[in-house]
Amino acid sequence: MKKSTLAPSDKIAVITPGGDAPGMNAAIRAVVRSALDEKMEIWGIQRGYDGLLEEDFVRLYARSVSGILHRGGTILKSSRSTKIREESSIKKAADILLSKDIKSLVVIGGDGSITAGYRISKYGVGVIGLPASIDNDIYGTDETIGYDTTLDTVVDAVDKIRDTASSFDRVFVIEVMGREHGYLALDAALACGAEFVVVPEIKFSISKLASEIKKEKARAKTSVIVIFAEGAGDSRKFAQELSLKSGYEVRVSTLGYIQRGGSPTGRTRILAARFAAKAIQLIKNKKTNRLVALQNGTIKDLPLSSICGRQKPIDQKLYQLIARLGR
Ligand code: F6P
Repeated sequence: MKKSTLAPSDKIAVITPGGDAPGMNAAIRAVVRSALDEKMEIWGIQRGYDGLLEEDFVRLYARSVSGILHRGGTILKSSRSTKIREESSIKKAADILLSKDIKSLVVIGGDGSITAGYRISKYGVGVIGLPASIDNDIYGTDETIGYDTTLDTVVDAVDKIRDTASSFDRVFVIEVMGREHGYLALDAALACGAEFVVVPEIKFSISKLASEIKKEKARAKTSVIVIFAEGAGDSRKFAQELSLKSGYEVRVSTLGYIQRGGSPTGRTRILAARFAAKAIQLIKNKKTNRLVALQNGTIKDLPLSSICGRQKPIDQKLYQLIARLGR
């Protein structure tokens, strides 16, 4: 029988745990094709960390990733694994990978998924994190895979709601995702010309907002849009109180899961390709336990130890700019 020319270190795996983001498939495709180009053997882990712990592996070839570049979601599927939070599962995950001679793992995912990857790396698996999340909340990178697409989805939805808001002179509270952070809300508010934005990072007063709205209405502002980050609290209660205090009719629209799906924008696809190519180069050069990141337009790599557990700051100047432009 012909002996394989692959060294064990040339066997790698890719996983997409946690919340899906548009462009994950573009990233999987680019990871697979870049790895094959470097003569590596590549395995996909299905259903996120639950699939890893249940050894749900599939060998990937160039044709396994045909026709997926433009598709949202993840062909590898995902899960919100609770098991992986336990240290025994982290060790088990590393043991499973090493028992298959897989020494490197590419984690395409958000904050929690990359942190779990970092913990796995402590048991001898070389891990590369590719930031992919609609929340854009990963420390060290200016942008995550999927974020640009989600921002466009939100802008499109808010523009549509604005039509009704201005036809009825209504106040709308539009809830956007972002977990406990307001990055998406801030960018969306600026892009949509929202009059107000509420984010968890900045204290707000409903009474103050109500009096500001009254002032805006007095200045012949017809529609008023408040972008509300989900992490800032209960948007329905907020809207009820705002209505009571301002005396205006306030409607709520929660954008929900449309923000997670859809075909990735060109920018998201390009970011996915650049991140993936860098990941494979890092593995080839045996420089693992790194996060691939975008900083000022350049692809960088940072130690996972320096980014995990850290909180990306929001841009306070954006908040002020939204206030200035929305009046
Ligand atoms: O992290 C992505 C995200 O969509 C958040 O914005 C949101 O809070 C969360 O995931 C929803 O998670 P699930 O898919 O488990 O409902």
